[in-house]
Amino acid sequence: MINLKGGVGKTTLAVGMACELAKNYDVLLVDIDPQFNATQWIVPAETYLDWIENKKTVFDIFQPSEGDTLAARRRNAASLSNAVITVTPGGYDLDIVPSTLDLIKLDHAPRGTENRLRVFLEPARQKYDYILIDCPPTASIFSYSAFLASDAYLVPVKPDPLSVLGLPLLERAMGDYEDRSGQGLMRLGLIFTQVRQTEAMRKTMAQVRRDYPDEVFNSHLVQTTGVAEAVDAGKPPQDFHKSRPKLMHDLEDICQEFIERVDNL
Ligand SMILES: Nc1ncnc2c1ncn2[C@@H]1O[C@H](COP(=O)(O)OP(=O)(O)OP(=O)(O)O)[C@@H](O)[C@H]1O
Ligand SMILES: [Mg+2]
Repeated sequence: MINLKGGVGKTTLAVGMACELAKNYDVLLVDIDPQFNATQWIVPAETYLDWIENKKTVFDIFQPSEGDTLAARRRNAASLSNAVITVTPGGYDLDIVPSTLDLIKLDHAPRGTENRLRVFLEPARQKYDYILIDCPPTASIFSYSAFLASDAYLVPVKPDPLSVLGLPLLERAMGDYEDRSGQGLMRLGLIFTQVRQTEAMRKTMAQVRRDYPDEVFNSHLVQTTGVAEAVDAGKPPQDFHKSRPKLMHDLEDICQEFIERVDNL
């Protein structure tokens, strides 16, 4: 999930989709944002505080591990067994690599750091059906790491004029990543988020569909106060379907389309 524009709904979509997919699949959500919003949302505070005392977070993935011997360094390194918390926000198991504010310290990390996420996730490719990475809204070492670790990227788009102006900037950043790495990355598509039925939004969405033919998902996520309620309760957004039936159907439809697009990659 990437968009260099902040606040467009990347984390909401990542958490919503991860919870939806977790009903039927093995899913890993990777939070690589120093703001750690996805972590704060679905990992209960007590569990998290205990975890960061004793276990690893995404911070440790980006850090060389300590130890006098190679064996000790390997033992101390972040791995799927010590950096993944299983949570059940919607009643289904969902695995998450939690993030931490400490990640800001790593923004000017040494060369080679950008490959560490890809290497960490290598064994996860066998273990999980889907791995979703929630990126920060910056063209940082974290976003570049996600680029190198991924098979495709998904762009959540809030259909307002300033967010849409950000799309060419994202394309430029992805182009830079391609130049730097010498490899391309498929765009799985664009998903509208925080959609309201206003004339202005309808016009903006039509424009984006013209600019990115066949790329925009048919389904979108509506804007609703159910999202804030879900964050407050540490639950998936679709769990507020009793009062907000739209959200549940939106996420089911988005995931259905996501699965089809991934199958066609
Ligand atoms: N569909 C929605 N309905 C209502 N509020 C929403 C919706 N999607 C997101 N929000 C709210 O908008 C804000 C930004 O959403 P979110 O954190 O998902 O965006 P983001 O792109 O991940 O932001 P950042 O760039 O900071 O990582 C949050 O307060 C979130 O609760
Ligand atoms: Mg976010």
